[in-house]
Amino acid sequence: MALNWVEIDLAALRHNFSQVRQRVGSQVAILAVVKSDAYGHGMLPVARELAEAGAEFFGVSKCWEALKLRSAGIQQPILVLAGMEVEDALAVVAHDLRPAVYRLDHCRLLERAAQHAGKQARIHLKLDTGMGRLGIPLPDLGPFLDQLAGLKHVQVEGVFSHLATSDESDKAFSQEQLARFRSALQMLHDRSISFTYAHIANSGAVMDIPEAHYQLVRPGIMLYGSLPSKDILSPAPLRPVMALKTKILQVKWVPAGHSIGYGRAFVCSRPTRIATIAVGYDDGYPRVLSNRGEALVHGVRVPIVGRVSMNLVTLDVTHVPQASPDDEVVLLGTQGTERISAEEIAQKAHTISYEIYCAIGKNPQRIFLNSSRRLA
Ligand SMILES: Cc1ncc(COP(=O)(O)O)c(C=O)c1O
Repeated sequence: MALNWVEIDLAALRHNFSQVRQRVGSQVAILAVVKSDAYGHGMLPVARELAEAGAEFFGVSKCWEALKLRSAGIQQPILVLAGMEVEDALAVVAHDLRPAVYRLDHCRLLERAAQHAGKQARIHLKLDTGMGRLGIPLPDLGPFLDQLAGLKHVQVEGVFSHLATSDESDKAFSQEQLARFRSALQMLHDRSISFTYAHIANSGAVMDIPEAHYQLVRPGIMLYGSLPSKDILSPAPLRPVMALKTKILQVKWVPAGHSIGYGRAFVCSRPTRIATIAVGYDDGYPRVLSNRGEALVHGVRVPIVGRVSMNLVTLDVTHVPQASPDDEVVLLGTQGTERISAEEIAQKAHTISYEIYCAIGKNPQRIFLNSSRRLA
């Protein structure tokens, strides 16, 4: 049995998906963003569960992730958000992947591969409406579309962009991006380029900007039970999906003046009962939470004392007399009526919940709970 593990509650995942559905209705397709191993939650079990729950599309960052989904039997369309590499063209066409496209050389490669295969390559044009990262700059869109018009085996299935500040309470920049997006869509319309999906909504926009839903939305973080930020105006009631648990290896009394761990970063001011638990920064738990984080033992919050080391953390359990070796400890998640959220950890670690999930989710010991799917 593992000394620490990550639990993934698939019932919570389904609940969160249903919250997205409730927000966008049945006429808008949901593209579940499952890149980066579903933000650390396990891409294949998450995608299978969401496919069953009705996700119409999946989104990954790279082609190899899409191929992994295809090999696992996922038949829904898959958008490759970071686009393709030159060597991916044949696989994109063979497996009907939808690459984000922002380079003409990629379009030409897809044209050749699709012609060769006797198929159409379906693409989603990625526009830069203000994020400033990937995407066709809007002044270049006209010439880009002129070139694209000559490629008969490349079909524009979608046109999309990404919002930089949809999770902020001030939506002014999102509205600017939306205005630019609308003008770009009009350019396609003026050229009689028809496509099925315009899309721009991430979780922030799913919740706060209904006019950004168009024909498809791309939620990520809200599926995993977190708001993109605390500034969301109209938050959905979400349930956390991931928990990080471990066990007490040893409990002992140490006298006042005794120091704990590397660097002697904590010195006991009184006789203290120390529980050493089997988790560390190698498990994605941030080292910056040394002397700052908390854990749950017998449903009670206890402080981390001393430094978080690679595989061990030390807790002050003086006020939890029943704490004993082999007891379960929760670093992220719920125990009794107490809960430690990814947001709480992220705030203390000066980061965002996304990064906490991705880091903790690298733990190889994952347990999937409450699947609605019958085991084969
Ligand atoms: C292009 C794109 N769309 C949608 C998402 C999902 O964003 P969120 O997790 O904030 O919902 C991401 C995530 O990074 C993304 O890169």
